[in-house]
Amino acid sequence: MLGLGNVGRAVAERLVDEGWRRLVAERGYEPPELVAVGVRQPGRRRGIDLPESIDLSDDLAGLVGRDDVEVVVELLGGLEPAGSLIRTALAAGRSVVTANKALIASGGAELEVLTRQSGAVLRFEAAVGGGIPILAPLVRDLAANRITSVTGILNGTTNHILTAMTRDGADYAGALAAAQRLGYAEADPTADVEGHDAVAKLVILVRLAFGPWLAPGSVARTGISAVSPAEIAQAASRDEALKLLCRAHRATDGTVTASVAPTSVARGSAIGATDGVTNIIEIEAHPVGTVAFRGPGAGGPATASAVLADVLAISRGDGSSWASVPNGVGVGG
Ligand SMILES: NC(=O)c1ccc[n+]([C@@H]2O[C@H](COP(=O)([O-])OP(=O)(O)OC[C@H]3O[C@@H](n4cnc5c(N)ncnc54)[C@H](OP(=O)(O)O)[C@@H]3O)[C@@H](O)[C@H]2O)c1
Repeated sequence: MLGLGNVGRAVAERLVDEGWRRLVAERGYEPPELVAVGVRQPGRRRGIDLPESIDLSDDLAGLVGRDDVEVVVELLGGLEPAGSLIRTALAAGRSVVTANKALIASGGAELEVLTRQSGAVLRFEAAVGGGIPILAPLVRDLAANRITSVTGILNGTTNHILTAMTRDGADYAGALAAAQRLGYAEADPTADVEGHDAVAKLVILVRLAFGPWLAPGSVARTGISAVSPAEIAQAASRDEALKLLCRAHRATDGTVTASVAPTSVARGSAIGATDGVTNIIEIEAHPVGTVAFRGPGAGGPATASAVLADVLAISRGDGSSWASVPNGVGVGG
């Protein structure tokens, strides 16, 4: 495992917990063994006591190359060194699980080529919707459907801010500052409030729902930093709520359009009633109709649920996150 931050710690806690290991064993899995963890400073205290047998190292490339490593779980975040380490692991035929939406959205097509050529497995359920199971149900349980649209709230930080502006009448700056104090927004909130994080997640959903890898820069994007209390009040007067809405649609001729923008939606709708840091994704598909997935879009323990589900899926032989949907890059099997 690479990284021992919010998500890494929550994953490691379960991997070494006897109760969790018994639970997965009872479900027929061989509990995965955590053999090594890569961090910047192995000596630093991190609020988790790992057994001495687990190698804590700052030589991340060395860990990825170890003979006894079958699955690399990347929880560093950022494009580098995460990207190089993942490419090395995939090229050597090792399976990779990652929660890194920025990396998958910007480099997904290249990673898909590499993965298909090497026969490795790459899974990234935690990259979209945190703990919400969405990618696996999309490709597996909706396989009999033609998906026409994907709509939802994919960023908890901005939904928390918009909810606070609606409930408390706060202005954007005040709601952002409060979210930062509560730990719901980062010190540099740009990726969240300007919609880049939501775009990355929508790019991943589009690949699995519709086929192509969109360039993140090609998705129409408006953040929430210019949303005014007057706009919120206007929406409320129509019994609507302003949400940072992610939308992707496939027309009958196959054209895909995608956008992320503050949008007014009926307060009584499933999306309009989704407040705070909760995420929701609605899929419209034929013949099923509309199905919705709602739950915790972030947080260490919730995200660990998705990361560990991917590790177990690999042991089950499920293949990559795109397995069973048409090849997005035109190579391999
Ligand atoms: N947090 C969430 O709720 C959430 C939800 C969904 C997806 N994700 C994704 O999960 C990933 C991890 O997020 P997080 O919140 O756990 O991040 P985090 O708390 O910042 O943890 C990152 C960890 O990676 C380590 N790290 C980063 N760069 C490194 C480097 N160059 N060499 C060695 N170690 C390095 C950090 O080490 P130090 O401790 O030494 O700095 C830290 O242990 C990201 O891709 C994020 O987008 C997070």
